[in-house]
Amino acid sequence: MRLPATSRALRASSGRWSIAARPTTIPRSIPIPSRPALSLREWSSTTIRRIPSTASPQKTQQSTLKIENEAYKTDEWTNTPDTILSHVGRRLYLDENHPLAITRKLIESQFAGPEFGNYSEKNPVVSTKNNFDVLGFPEDHPGRSRTDTYYVNDKTVLRTHTSAHQRAYFQQIARNEQTRPDEVGYTIIADVYRRDAIDRSHYPVFHQMEGAMLWKRPDNNPLSASKETAAKIMTDLQKIPSHDVVVEDPNPTIHDQRNPLQDKHHSAEEVEAVAAHLKRSLERMVIKIFTEASKAASNGGAEVEPLKVRWIEAYFPFTSPSWELEVFWQGDWLEILGCGVIKQDLLINSDVPNRIGWAFGLGLERIAMLLFNIPDIRLFWSRDERFLSQFRAGEITRFEPFSKHPACYKDVAFWLPPAAVTGGSAAGGAVPFHENDVMEIVRGIGGDLVEDVTLIDEFTHPKTARKSVCYRINYRSLERTLTNEESNELNLKVREKLVEELGVELR
Ligand code: PHE
Repeated sequence: MRLPATSRALRASSGRWSIAARPTTIPRSIPIPSRPALSLREWSSTTIRRIPSTASPQKTQQSTLKIENEAYKTDEWTNTPDTILSHVGRRLYLDENHPLAITRKLIESQFAGPEFGNYSEKNPVVSTKNNFDVLGFPEDHPGRSRTDTYYVNDKTVLRTHTSAHQRAYFQQIARNEQTRPDEVGYTIIADVYRRDAIDRSHYPVFHQMEGAMLWKRPDNNPLSASKETAAKIMTDLQKIPSHDVVVEDPNPTIHDQRNPLQDKHHSAEEVEAVAAHLKRSLERMVIKIFTEASKAASNGGAEVEPLKVRWIEAYFPFTSPSWELEVFWQGDWLEILGCGVIKQDLLINSDVPNRIGWAFGLGLERIAMLLFNIPDIRLFWSRDERFLSQFRAGEITRFEPFSKHPACYKDVAFWLPPAAVTGGSAAGGAVPFHENDVMEIVRGIGGDLVEDVTLIDEFTHPKTARKSVCYRINYRSLERTLTNEESNELNLKVREKLVEELGVELR
């Protein structure tokens, strides 16, 4: 059985938390990633309850946080540092010559008007209600944990996915029913935030694009008209040009245990039609992207294999049945997006009870990294002209690395505090140890000068049962050569902070 995934997914990922649940919060062995992104990450099925910290509140906490000109009261849930807030408002996806904006445009071109409105959501501050509750995330879903999510306060987070806006956009479709009846779908682009590992394909701020499309059904007893609804959807399906790319899709659309029909609301026939429309729309989009990527790669002299894509079953709290789409790219299967048939309860709660439809979400950086051959996710945030001047609106070109500055590795080994149990968060002072808290400390001090952090050793003392871990921090600037003194100084601060905030004992 597949484990509950969800929006840990959809970003460039090293595959370190792959499909299997996290065994503990410390992975056993972490390969140093040699290439970006193999698999989507997901929240594990491990239960992490929402327990505010009982220990001392976060050390340097201010009583309010100012974000996009709005002041938010902080509390014991707050774990959003200024280093993260400094990214709010960059709006890279609107900078028309930026690779993220070029990628956005390419995808939007596949979801054009009048059926689709293309929108962006500038303010990343959303309620926990919109980010989790209305989407049906269970109370104990690990995605709600402060180890994974940046809380502004108890009731407010930096959105972890663009799905936080689904309800508002469904409501907009309902409101515009008279004035814009043709607009039955949307895309949204936005920056999203997750506490996470550090490596060349992970950054705590990244971008997602979400899309959805709805069809009307009769107000009363829609199931009795499901044949007509399905026929309408199939007519729309015929309008999407077909393609000749090989698609593996071995599973049935509906599977009672693994990928159930919402049988209270939908007939199998309707769901087959919605699924067929969804799959063809997304295949077409992905084929467009990868054809552009192959063109750019072959211009650059790289050998290009024929495109292969496959559908696999997935789980999201707000769709059923659900899938992920993977693409075979340069020797590996890459997870590109998550999608599914929207939960009817969500549509009912969003003023469109009389519609049925699909939704998808994808991570923009992963796609842009392979379209433009960008090797390190930090580059998207670079203000260096040697990076920015390489891209032009509407053009897919291969990134030419302007330098490769030397790496500077520093190892940090420490004993976990005796009370340490894995699974919780120390952010804000709670006792349990979580790897993301180490990442946050390193990021807070090293910022973009850290390329990756990997666990290279862990060990439990046979007599005392105390646990020791060793992380290797790779300091490397994208823009200049770091001196050994500089990285030593950063590393010293990291060591101090680990003791101060996590209560570890350095070795
Ligand atoms: N929000 C999901 C994620 O971040 C992706 C998704 C969007 C899945 C819409 C289904 C429908 O992983």
